[in-house]
Amino acid sequence: MAFSLPPILESAVPSAPLNGDLAGELRLRDGHNRILTDLRLSVTDRCNYKCVYCRTGNDGAQFSELPIADYARILRVFVSLGIEKVRLTGGEPLLRNGLLELVREAAQMRPAFSEAPLDIAITTNGHLLAKLAKPLKDAGLSRITISMDAVDPETFTRITRVPGSFEHVQAGIRAAQDAGLGPIKINCVLLRGFNDTQIEAFAEFSRSEQVIVRFIEFMPLEEDRSWSPETVVPMSEIIARLNAVRPLVALPPNHPSETARRFTFDDGLGEIGIIAPVSEPFCGHCSRVRLTSDGKIRTCLFSQSDHDLIGLMYGGASDDEMSDWIRRIVQHKEARHHIGEPGFLKPSRSMVHIGG
Ligand code: 5AD
Repeated sequence: MAFSLPPILESAVPSAPLNGDLAGELRLRDGHNRILTDLRLSVTDRCNYKCVYCRTGNDGAQFSELPIADYARILRVFVSLGIEKVRLTGGEPLLRNGLLELVREAAQMRPAFSEAPLDIAITTNGHLLAKLAKPLKDAGLSRITISMDAVDPETFTRITRVPGSFEHVQAGIRAAQDAGLGPIKINCVLLRGFNDTQIEAFAEFSRSEQVIVRFIEFMPLEEDRSWSPETVVPMSEIIARLNAVRPLVALPPNHPSETARRFTFDDGLGEIGIIAPVSEPFCGHCSRVRLTSDGKIRTCLFSQSDHDLIGLMYGGASDDEMSDWIRRIVQHKEARHHIGEPGFLKPSRSMVHIGG
């Protein structure tokens, strides 16, 4: 495969510890001067759920995965560029053979510009977590986010379209807590007419189970093109409804690129995050880059195209050549998404194929 290498980084790995300025120059930076520290790595596009807001429900789709060793090599290259946090996603990442091996390898990696070890997170639907929580923790997993779109079992099953899924996920949450993976984050995508009745019950769930519940505005990333502005439950409505349960108290962001607005209640019990990519986009602080399960870089959830990193790697590129290529590709990271604007084009792939 033909590729040309720009002379961006002559001496990639300095031998002495970096002073602040030099480190600043070498960091992985996009064309809008945002430093990229967060890689979403999809390890499969298979999923054992067929959530109504994500998949069509039709079976027989084409799936695409790389060998675990290839994900590990790509991750190592990103970590050498200053990625500090990797989130393993899918599809459903717990379906992937070799996942524990990948976590164990990742736990050995040291981010280029940070003293801290690599932060290894995972987003899962929790269905297979009861068995895997402890092995994941032992392998070196730092944190876990579990997708759970209803507290009511029937509503939950109506969304996942898998009977018995609710019980599996509850067992998974308990196992993750027992394994010491807390505080656990629960992601709830709110869909008008499906689960917008669940907001108050989730507030109670956060308080009683000591989990962080994060409500996410529905984005146009689904396979069957059901999104419209009317299907979004906006942040303002979520806040008003939670406030009626008990007065909300705002919490400070954990870090500048935090996507969630954080709240607790007036008695300090429970934690709620609201992620509002539609009504309050946070693109200006975006620190993320994605790798799809078939080895393509996506610089934004709403990108219209991918960048073929795996093609470059299978063409024989060295780690340094891959690094240089990544630096060039992220120069073109989109400034922001255009959801809800005239002329908005849905992304070329749906969430299950991009990676959450
Ligand atoms: N809009 C918002 N969030 C979504 N997720 C999946 N599809 C969408 C969508 N269209 C969520 C999942 C998971 C996380 C990775 O993204 O529920 O928790």
